[in-house]
Amino acid sequence: MPRFIQGSRRGLFIPACALTIVIGSLAVDARQGQAPQPAPGTPPRPVTPVSASSVTAAPARYVGEYVSITAPVEAQVGKLAFTVDPDKNKTTGKDILVLMKHISAPVDTNTYVTVIGELIVLDSAELEKKSKEHGVALTPDLLERFKGKPTVLANSVVNAAGVDAARRLPPPLTAEEEAFMKTMKEIGSANGVLRKAIEGSDQKMAAESTATLKRTMMQTEVFFRGKRRQDAQAWASDARKLAESIERSAAAGRWDEVKSQAGNLGKSCQTCHTAYRERFDDGSYRIKWPAGSQVR
Ligand code: HEC
Repeated sequence: MPRFIQGSRRGLFIPACALTIVIGSLAVDARQGQAPQPAPGTPPRPVTPVSASSVTAAPARYVGEYVSITAPVEAQVGKLAFTVDPDKNKTTGKDILVLMKHISAPVDTNTYVTVIGELIVLDSAELEKKSKEHGVALTPDLLERFKGKPTVLANSVVNAAGVDAARRLPPPLTAEEEAFMKTMKEIGSANGVLRKAIEGSDQKMAAESTATLKRTMMQTEVFFRGKRRQDAQAWASDARKLAESIERSAAAGRWDEVKSQAGNLGKSCQTCHTAYRERFDDGSYRIKWPAGSQVR
């Protein structure tokens, strides 16, 4: 590893990159025509760039702040935990513990990372509780070692390759999920066609979109029936019936009716998405299986 000579220049540059990653992920939802939502874990407050040595010198000053620290990785202390040390060439013992919730790219020892997250300083019992909340199980000796030390609950860990290693990425799609996704994409575009049909009072377009919506909502209903999820099955069935009503109202040129039915259709999409859909940090969606939902 070459000595790190551009310290101050890169120190300023990398946090700016990292912020762009956090902010960049806000744009994704706009595609779905929904209000943009912050990515999970987006800090609620502005991020303060600080050096690792100022944090280790006076951790109390930064407690509760969202900090951005660029420093070399000293050691891995668990799958989702590592330490950074202000000095790359010797172990100062003044390291900072970093806890991640997810890891999707390498964080290698002796490489520089930019860590962004809330800074905390806790006693060992609190640290145990907090690290568990973060999905990290620290051994008793690590809890002892890091009590009273600065710890960062990382939302973002930009590694040497410029990749945010803390992003939660979805696992590969199963064939069944892929088929379901295809249906949802079809539903999404048919819904877009329906909106255009309403805007232009276009009966032909309305008929096309409702034909697709009826077929795909039936597929969705069958899918959730197979999974014995009564609630989701009922929402898909409501959506299918709404598509039938829209079809009739549009054919009769009753556009005010179509508008209110389309509004209700939108609500049924949302109800099911809230319960059964989750968004990953790359902006993709997957089915989630809520524990509390009805299973026949
Ligand atoms: C009964 C449940 C249910 C209903 C009703 C439903 N969806 Fe979905 N939808 C899902 C789930 C689960 C996902 C996430 C899985 C996926 O994207 O593959 C999803 C994903 C999507 C996606 C993202 C597809 C992708 O992966 O890129 C779009 C777009 C979408 N739905 C549109 C709609 C619209 C528009 C409606 C209403 C007209 C609707 N959905 C109604 C369950 C539902």
